[in-house]
Amino acid sequence: MDAGFVGIDRLVRAGHVEPGQRDRVIFLWDEIRRLKREKNAFLPAHNYQLPEIQAVADYVGDSFELAVRARDINAGLVVFCGVRFMAEGCHTLAPQTPVYLPSLKALCSLAEVDADDVAERQEFLRSLGRNFATMTYVNTYADVKAMSDACCTSSNAPRIAAGLGAPDILFVPDQNLAYQVAIKTRRMYLPPPEANRFHAAEYRAQIEPLIRHGERQGLVGNVFAWEGACHVHHQMTVDDIARIRAQDPQAVVIVHGEVKPELQRAADEVLSTSQMARYVAAHPEKSRYAILTECGLVVRMELDHPEKQFYKPCRLCQYMKANDLESVYETLRDEPADRRITLPEGVRQGAARAMLRMIELAA
Ligand code: 13P
Ligand code: SF4
Repeated sequence: MDAGFVGIDRLVRAGHVEPGQRDRVIFLWDEIRRLKREKNAFLPAHNYQLPEIQAVADYVGDSFELAVRARDINAGLVVFCGVRFMAEGCHTLAPQTPVYLPSLKALCSLAEVDADDVAERQEFLRSLGRNFATMTYVNTYADVKAMSDACCTSSNAPRIAAGLGAPDILFVPDQNLAYQVAIKTRRMYLPPPEANRFHAAEYRAQIEPLIRHGERQGLVGNVFAWEGACHVHHQMTVDDIARIRAQDPQAVVIVHGEVKPELQRAADEVLSTSQMARYVAAHPEKSRYAILTECGLVVRMELDHPEKQFYKPCRLCQYMKANDLESVYETLRDEPADRRITLPEGVRQGAARAMLRMIELAA
């Protein structure tokens, strides 16, 4: 997706930039553009980033698009306007290019998975004799990605699962996207360990009746869901959708794959962030929407489509909002060593293998 989508006057009118900050934002945009030229720098941004950051980015996309773009980077340096796992993914696929993250607070609640716990779960599935592949959502760090057969994102998870060739899938870490994979690939959804605490015997007792049920139904296999969820999407409820439906039955309800299964069932579409943006752009005849994801995307849609109306059951991700235009500028100007993303080479190579497999299978 091309960036540079909006000027300062629109941002001020829409209330995204305070009138008193107008000149500072223009100064920062000019400086960032000058430094980009001087340093041959590339600024990718995720769809949730602040509009004044998206406006000066070289490329704006969802996690998958950003990963593909990272593989093809030819620049002197990258300032990655997103969260840490995305910047790490960029370094993974473009190790020759220094990659910086504007804020060290730009993390992700979902990505905090312990690699030893993944190894334990894999060992457990082997002990049950399961024929499984491990899929990691890109919202993980490189050590966990490196333990998987392939990564996936919200735009391609069922497709990657179908391409892996194993009946069972260990899906790490988003339990809600795991549900979507199960439904779309005719696999049995096995919820995460109860109380979100893995205990081998208890978990086995929990899943075995479900596995037998799936076998009786002739399903392809099983999706073993991990006990992870995005704190932003997981707090959305079916009541959020019911309220919109009651108020405006014609509104199109679009949810992200990280929302709970009951919301996925109640929505009109389950899409990645860029797929949402494309859906809205491709349907001029549909004028009212409820978009259940992080608010940054809805802000962009409002700016892109002033003729449309957007209800706002969206939520803010404080990690995505940790970057601001000042920190993007400082990072580009100073290249601070503590904001540079690095990885042990063996881990990077393992994660690169899983990310490249995703790109190959998604084609
Ligand atoms: P997308 O891949 O759909 O952009 O999602 C990334 C993310 O972090 C969602 O919370
Ligand atoms: Fe992570 Fe959720 Fe924020 Fe996306 S919205 S970056 S999954 S915490």
